[in-house]
Amino acid sequence: MTLACGIDVGGTKIAGGVVDEDGKILEELRVESPATDAEEIEAAIADLVSQLASRHSIGSVGVGAAGYIDKARAVVLFAPNLAWRNVDLRSDLEKRVDLPVVIENDANAAAWGEFRFGAGHDIDDLLLVTVGTGVGGGLVLDGALYRGAFGVGAEIGHMRVVPDGILCGCGKHGCFEQYASGSALVREVRAAADRGSAGARNLLERAGGDPQRITGPLVTEAARDGDPFALEQLAAVGTWLGEGIASLTEILDPAVVVIGGGVSEADELLLDPVRTAFAAQMPDRDFRPTLEIRKARLGNHAGLIGAADLSRR
Ligand code: BGC
Ligand code: NA
Ligand code: ZN
Repeated sequence: MTLACGIDVGGTKIAGGVVDEDGKILEELRVESPATDAEEIEAAIADLVSQLASRHSIGSVGVGAAGYIDKARAVVLFAPNLAWRNVDLRSDLEKRVDLPVVIENDANAAAWGEFRFGAGHDIDDLLLVTVGTGVGGGLVLDGALYRGAFGVGAEIGHMRVVPDGILCGCGKHGCFEQYASGSALVREVRAAADRGSAGARNLLERAGGDPQRITGPLVTEAARDGDPFALEQLAAVGTWLGEGIASLTEILDPAVVVIGGGVSEADELLLDPVRTAFAAQMPDRDFRPTLEIRKARLGNHAGLIGAADLSRR
């Protein structure tokens, strides 16, 4: 059985795993991501790969990275939330690891992982939406990963949803990810805590009185305990997502939308508002077959598993 190595480069952590042809992870390693320096990140990835390759017979390496990847699956053209600009990650890594490498967009890789082995295994057309630092999109159409003419397809986080809205890392104002991401959630909650809002008091206490220590997982935890403000803030993000998904449905007509990324850990506290907002924006839904909104099944392993599998193709 051919084994592949999958790497997921996140904002704070780099995960690497050995994945078999059934999408099973045989061994996994995680390291803190060394700041934003591209060289250091490459060194860290190469180190993970060589550790794993010393114990398993690996044939290829797939890397999921949060940015625009060229059609040749080699160059990180641009990354709205990272320092990467026009970095030939594939050739840099191939020099270091002596194995064939492919680079994929992180959300594309996750979409592929969920399609092959997870929440989308039973259908041919899916849209995956990752809700984390940014909002990522991955599309599988007719059983094939869609990349677009230049490799930069499905960048749904950068659709403009608010004219003259909040400034985004991509340089535009009013992008979807400024309203529907984990970063947006944390930004809003911290701002409320900063203003001394009564609703945010419980969250602020949980963060030891420091608004900067309020994180996404902390909001989710408070929401699970029934904190009304935390629930409301999660619902606000869910509403943006549901509305965005409704617009995308008009174009794509997927069978399933899979919601992944860190914020999806809030389960129904996020997904219920997503479904409600989606339904509200689809008043014609009784007259057409409509999609199902599902939570990602591979959790934070989707990107790694998908990248590994894609590296074999
Ligand atoms: C980036 C995407 C990425 C997504 C999730 C967005 O800001 O533009 O390339 O997939 O964040 O990480
Ligand atoms: Na994508
Ligand atoms: Zn943007």
